[in-house]
Amino acid sequence: MDHFDYKNGVLCAEDVPLPEIAAEVGTPAYVYSTATLERHYRLFDEALDGLPHLVCYAMKAASNQAILKTLAALGAGMDVVSGGEYARAVAAGVAPDKIVFAGVGKTEAEIRQALTGGLRQFNVESEPELQLISRIAAEMGVSAPVTIRVNPDVDAKTHAKIATGKSENKFGIPISKARAVYAEAAALPGIEVVGIDVHIGSQLTELAPFEAAYRKVAELTETLRGDGHDIQRLDLGGGLGIPYARSNSAPPLPTEYGALIKETVGHLGCEIEIEPGRLIAGNAGILLSRVIYVKEGEGRRFLILDAAMNDLIRPAMYDAWHDIVPVIEPAAGHERTEYDVVGPVCESGDTFAKGRAMPELQAGDLVAFRSAGAYGAVMSSEYNTRPLIPEILVKGDHHAVIRARPNFDEIISRDSIPEWL
Ligand code: LLP
Repeated sequence: MDHFDYKNGVLCAEDVPLPEIAAEVGTPAYVYSTATLERHYRLFDEALDGLPHLVCYAMKAASNQAILKTLAALGAGMDVVSGGEYARAVAAGVAPDKIVFAGVGKTEAEIRQALTGGLRQFNVESEPELQLISRIAAEMGVSAPVTIRVNPDVDAKTHAKIATGKSENKFGIPISKARAVYAEAAALPGIEVVGIDVHIGSQLTELAPFEAAYRKVAELTETLRGDGHDIQRLDLGGGLGIPYARSNSAPPLPTEYGALIKETVGHLGCEIEIEPGRLIAGNAGILLSRVIYVKEGEGRRFLILDAAMNDLIRPAMYDAWHDIVPVIEPAAGHERTEYDVVGPVCESGDTFAKGRAMPELQAGDLVAFRSAGAYGAVMSSEYNTRPLIPEILVKGDHHAVIRARPNFDEIISRDSIPEWL
């Protein structure tokens, strides 16, 4: 459920009509709903009711300071994957003991940064990383709290580019090596083992892969405890999918996911962490765009928008589907036309949808890409020197620009010219 609905025939973000935002800030633009962000965070929080837990929002999904502050105010922790994300979380006022630091390639500088500022735990992905963290922590005279990410070799049944829990993926240590790696960790001077971490992929639309992974983690918890390790915390990752097409059957709900967590690992007395990103931010954001031209091709019609692959890369990168809807509600029983929906970038890959049945549209009409709040703005680029597009946050009948569109001078002035030119 989200808070983007037609009201009096006009698509609104909560109580703000999208044409008002388009008139004020121009298009393309990302528009987020506070109520949807809050609702989705609370669904996870409530789904784990009864277990000690922390929902660590995977801020890679959407990391604007205003979004982070909105979630932090509800008590969210953060899952960060770089020094930059760590700095963003701290700048948004997230307490360091609510920040978990993940990623296969943490650098020495990033490890120092997090140990200096404080953190809840590193989710460690390899033995060399474990050794580096230990060395730095020992040098600093501190002990680094860690979980070790295990790779359970489970098929997440999602797009190959976002599956992470199979043995061929670069993530985690093979679960078969876990006992040896935990023994090594226990012997290292700068390491304090606090738990186990697992994350098998993103946009999962079934519970079965989670169940398989979590049962393996439960078994491993007992084994490691038997070996004398103090496993207090289980980080179960993120990955619960969202319905991208309204016509499709819906993925499991956070309540069902929470029930599965309770069933598989609830008996272990561990504190549970989860790292949802997409389900919190995805349906909380739309990409607002305007039709530049309708072009008649040979046997096809192109809807040429002012948004492009540099603004929303998911269709080009993962063949992802996003519902694209007109901002002015079409009349009941309207005719539908098939369009190839494309952007202005000079690549054929700059295609959002092929042969998409949509109400008839004209140059100047506004459209909204639904479910664009996660992995939208954060994955955008300035390819073709197209400025990063603005982000707007709506709350009730208020809205605010939370990232402004840069002008061309700002973009160009980031380059510097060597003295010989
Ligand atoms: N935790 C870890 C360790 C992760 O790697 C990820 C996502 C998450 C949590 C959050 O997963 P979520 O709840 O959002 O599914 N750019 C791709 C998605 C990449 C996901 C990467 N890792 C897309 O647009 O579909």
